[in-house]
Amino acid sequence: MCGIVGYTGPRQASRILVEGLKRLEYRGYDSAGIAVPKDATQDEGKTLVVIKKKGKIAELRKAVPKDLPGNFGIGHTRWATHGGVTDANAHPHVDSSGKIAIVHNGIIENYIPLKEMLEKEGAIFRSETDSEVIAHLVAYHYDGDLETALKAALRHLKGTYGIAAVHADEPGRIVGARNGSPLVLGVGDGEMLLASDVTALLTYTTSVVYLNDGEVVSMTPTEFRISDRDDRAVDPEIDLVTWKLDAIEKGGFSTYMEKEIFEQPESIERALTGRMDFEYCSAKLGGLDMSKKELHAIERIRVIAAGTSWHAGLVGCQLMESVARLPGQAELASELRYRNPVVEPNSLYIAASQSGETADTLYAMREIQRRGGSVLGICNVVGSTIARESDGGIYVHSGPEIAVASTKAFTSQLAAFYLLTLSLARLHDMSHHEGERFLTDLKAIPAAVRRSLLLRDSIQEIAKRYARFGDFLFLGRGLLYPIALEGALKLKEISYIHAEGYASGEIKHGPIALISPDTPSVFLVPNDHLREKTISNMKEIKARGGPIIALAEEGDELVASIADDYIPLPKVDTRFQPFVMMPPLQLFAYFCALELGRDIDQPRNLAKSVTVE
Ligand code: G6P
Repeated sequence: MCGIVGYTGPRQASRILVEGLKRLEYRGYDSAGIAVPKDATQDEGKTLVVIKKKGKIAELRKAVPKDLPGNFGIGHTRWATHGGVTDANAHPHVDSSGKIAIVHNGIIENYIPLKEMLEKEGAIFRSETDSEVIAHLVAYHYDGDLETALKAALRHLKGTYGIAAVHADEPGRIVGARNGSPLVLGVGDGEMLLASDVTALLTYTTSVVYLNDGEVVSMTPTEFRISDRDDRAVDPEIDLVTWKLDAIEKGGFSTYMEKEIFEQPESIERALTGRMDFEYCSAKLGGLDMSKKELHAIERIRVIAAGTSWHAGLVGCQLMESVARLPGQAELASELRYRNPVVEPNSLYIAASQSGETADTLYAMREIQRRGGSVLGICNVVGSTIARESDGGIYVHSGPEIAVASTKAFTSQLAAFYLLTLSLARLHDMSHHEGERFLTDLKAIPAAVRRSLLLRDSIQEIAKRYARFGDFLFLGRGLLYPIALEGALKLKEISYIHAEGYASGEIKHGPIALISPDTPSVFLVPNDHLREKTISNMKEIKARGGPIIALAEEGDELVASIADDYIPLPKVDTRFQPFVMMPPLQLFAYFCALELGRDIDQPRNLAKSVTVE
């Protein structure tokens, strides 16, 4: 949600900033801008050039002169919260003198009284944003040192922020501050970068320092200093990023989403690697940081998450109940936080989040921790806030996910939940032999997913015929109910077609009223005792003239004879069907969106990492 990038060093800053913003574009893409010193040769440090454009980074790129001089600066890609999508509301924002520029992620809750106060002091506001007050506040406190002025400005602010600031009279210096919106410093060789996430830094360095809430960094090409708001120095911990640059490239695919869908056999494999313990027929999850005794004492599971991660949590909780015999409940983080939750002893809380930065999930996690609960993180992004603040966890290692609609991170999160379920089940009811069977099935999943991806062409052909429908139902039971929710979400997110996920058994209680030849139903047919019940539901839809696409195990002649379109899936044990159902549903959404000419990687109104409430 909004992306920040800053650069200081020997190179042409504007080029690096625009390139970095392109990498961060998935965080927000309604407008973008940069600020660099006006003239590197004659006038460096005296004034700033600010270029801002409504639209995608491509628009900004067109507006930035190729030879724009200056070797330090800041940039921003916006996802609007306060103020419409206009050039003026795009960041950077400058103070009245035009010498100070800031970029901001987050929300300043008390910006209205601050703006009134600053206007009385003579500040001239040029945008409708909450962020602009920061530039004027820094100017209000500026007395020759940007770091001191920013720290003074922070004392006024209520809300969340990741901020980067420059002053025309302090060439080469960038000052950043974090409270609730991520910032990471990239330590290069004679150059430094600052960004909302590491994807913007990887071209230049893999040495990074993650800023914590309440910290301020001041950097020049060769030095940086981190301190807290009271000016106490903080010892930096330099981390090494293991993601490779090619992981954030499209690698021959036309979109990131397609690439990420097809990466799933490997990404699931990575989530499992080193964690399948065939000796004890359990899972090795070192990051949990819990003793066997502590794990054994767990009586129930509570997952907190948002969006796709919540769907993974719903699968995880059902599996916990059926396999580990532990009651589980997956809750929407945005609901839990404001509900005055009861934090029960012997509950294991799990914050599931691909990005590890989702504000709703983070705040819900902190609320649980504040009440004495322990929270594990199931995250993809190493070093993310949830990963760092949780009491232990499992990294899913799916590699960077750039497309806004989550695909590979979802199936990797599933893999993490399956491993955790196994390890808890083995501490309770599950025998060595059953554990071995579970592990053997799990090990075979990447290959099964690879086979399900071979359905690509037939799914494209089906999607071409269905993309013009305006409403869809996605129907599943048991473990496939959350998969139906996720299938519907994928279609909504990237094609803008209205789709609802429902438990198949519930359609007679309302949604069946929607059925007509214009409302297709996508049935996820399980291969267990619920298959027949699902087939009855299919017949109910058929009797009312509703078109049916059915995903069922290969060789299911009965399903094939009822459905208008049948997608035959690789055979796996029922418990593992979510893994083979999901990729075809992702592909279905993908090809519908392609057919409709949508912007698949960056769907309208969405952001990948939602760091505001
Ligand atoms: C946003 C994204 C979704 C994602 C959700 C949770 O809404 O658009 O794709 O599922 O956030 O994100 P997280 O990073 O916490 O998994």
